Order: sequence, then structure tokens, then C-alpha cells
Amino acid sequence: MSDESSETSGHNRELDALRDGLSRPLREIAAKYFYDDRGSALFERITELREYYPTRTEISILERDAREIMADARAGHLVELGSGAGRKIRLLLDRWEARDEGGRCTMLDVNQSFLDQSIEALARAYPRCAFDGVVGDFTTDLDRIAPSSAPRLTVFFAGTIGNLYPHERLAFFRSIAASMRPEDSLLVGVDLVKDTARLESAYNDSEGVTAEFNLNALRVLNARFDADFDESAFEHRAFFDRAQSWIEMRLRATRATSALVRATGQRVELSAGDEIRTEISCKFTADSLRNDLASAGLALRAWRTDPRHDFALAHIWSAP
Ligand SMILES: C[S@@+](CC[C@H](N)C(=O)[O-])C[C@H]1O[C@@H](n2cnc3c(N)ncnc32)[C@H](O)[C@@H]1O
Repeated sequence: MSDESSETSGHNRELDALRDGLSRPLREIAAKYFYDDRGSALFERITELREYYPTRTEISILERDAREIMADARAGHLVELGSGAGRKIRLLLDRWEARDEGGRCTMLDVNQSFLDQSIEALARAYPRCAFDGVVGDFTTDLDRIAPSSAPRLTVFFAGTIGNLYPHERLAFFRSIAASMRPEDSLLVGVDLVKDTARLESAYNDSEGVTAEFNLNALRVLNARFDADFDESAFEHRAFFDRAQSWIEMRLRATRATSALVRATGQRVELSAGDEIRTEISCKFTADSLRNDLASAGLALRAWRTDPRHDFALAHIWSAP
């Protein structure tokens, strides 16, 4: 397939998925639609919030264990999925022996301008390491990361794996497993199950930044799919569903509203109280993750967590 026709079929798949999500009884859009430049900047603000413990906790684990992680991985090629501002990877780059001797680092994200900026900043800070970027979706575009002969360490921070539904997570692990050689490994940041109040306050901050981030998805839909959602007709909602072990973020219509999505040829009619699910964020235990990995032919080799057991970095290899 030519580049152009594979791009067209990728775009058509995306439109089909959007149309399908917006036609369900509980309407739903993919979490990637939070992220244009404004959404990425809002996420950076979320990481600074008092209530939002995942970022600072993951960084504290990295600061403590990065040297050991890099020694275990013995990588010559680092890959970061959903790389965003590319802040955490610096903690690995700082402790990577191969960095200045042929080390290569690939960043993949849906947001092109954020990706370009972060690669530029990283290339300035680590001039002897070769950086490249892939604008793409980590659920469909892993095969666009150029292969390397050196052992590869793929990192997936921020608990973003939790945005995938269990069946999507399994497909993701299987596709990673299919491309992994015995010398390759995967480092995944996972948010851990904890009491409901702490989980819910992380997604309902007192400054309303998460609410703005959530509402930003409507702006992204309007710009990208020629739609006319009225942001002022929606409010942010986030709650923990313990049975599913995930946080759900939704946008609830505060009054009757409708939107035309020209790219999918769809009119979306909502009554007051109707909701659109914008994100799930699954919470894990070491055992729940181990079970997922076993179904994909992967194995958990190291589980690094903070003293409060709020967050963990799981180092994963092909199952022997
Ligand atoms: C929660 S942020 C994490 C950013 C950064 N890795 C960190 O740890 O702070 C998620 C990042 O993944 C990107 N992203 C979200 N969904 C994606 C998808 N399906 N494919 C590729 N990137 C995606 C977003 O643009 C954003 O930069």
C-alpha cells in the first residue's frame, strides 16, 4: 500500500471509530482527543496540581531507580510512547551509558507540534544521542518505529496504558510482544488501586484544570472534524468505578444541546443530563498486571513502587 493510501485508510478508520463512539447509547470518544497544543499544556498543568499524585510519584521512582533500570535493560535504543513534553525520559537519558556512543531515542505521540518541540529540546540537551519522532497512535502505529539491531527499551509513562480498555490493553501488549526480541524490554508506569477519595480528587482538582482539560476534547473535535459542539453546554464529571477498577471522565450536558460533526456526517443530540465518556483510567495491582501480561506472552521481571504504593513502574520482558 502506498503511503498516501495507507494514510487515507487510517483516516477512514478514525472517522469510523468516532462515528461509532458517538452513536452508542453512552456516547464515547477516544482519550487521544484531549491533546492539541492547549490540551497538552493543560496536561502539564495537571501534573503540577496538589491532588494529582501520579506524575510526582512516578518521577520519584525514576529518580531513585533509573540507574538500575538502565543497567537491567542494557538498551541501545530507547522508545517512548505518548511522549508528551519528554520530561521523564531525561531521567533515563541521564543514566544511560550508551547515550553518547551510538544511542538512539525515538519518541511517538499524536501531537506533532508538542513532539517536535520536545525532540528539539532533547537534541539540544543530549547532542550525541540521535533523536527521531513518529507522529502516530500507539494503538495502531507501533510498526512505524524503525527497527534497530541494538536492544530496545520501550517506555510508556504516566499510567497512559490505563486509558486503554482491557481488550485494547491486551491487543497492545500482544502487538508489543510480537515485535519483542529476547533482549528487548518494556517499562510501563501504572497507577495503583487505592482509596476512592484520593483517586477521585486527583481527577476533580479544586482549581478546575482537569475540567478544562476534559472540555478541551470538544474543541479538538470541533477543529479536527469540523464539528460545532457548544462547550458551555457541558460540565466535567469524574468518578471511580471500583467494579471495573477504573476512573471515568465524562462530559455531562447541562441543558439540551446538539452538534453537527461534518466529517462523519452525524448530528449528535443530547438531552440535559446525557453524557459523553471521554476517558477511562484503569488502576492496577501487581497481580492484575501479571495476569494481563501472561495472556500476551510477557512476564513481569521488576516491580518498582513508592513507599505509599501509589504508583509503580513495571519492567516487562518476553516470557521465557
Ligand atoms: C498523560 S500524557 C503523558 C505525557 C508524558 N509521557 C508524561 O509522562 O508526562 C499522554 C500523552 O500521550 C499522547 N497520546 C494520547 N493518546 C495517544 C495515542 N493513542 N497515541 C499516541 N499518543 C497518544 C498525548 O498526546 C500525551 O502527550
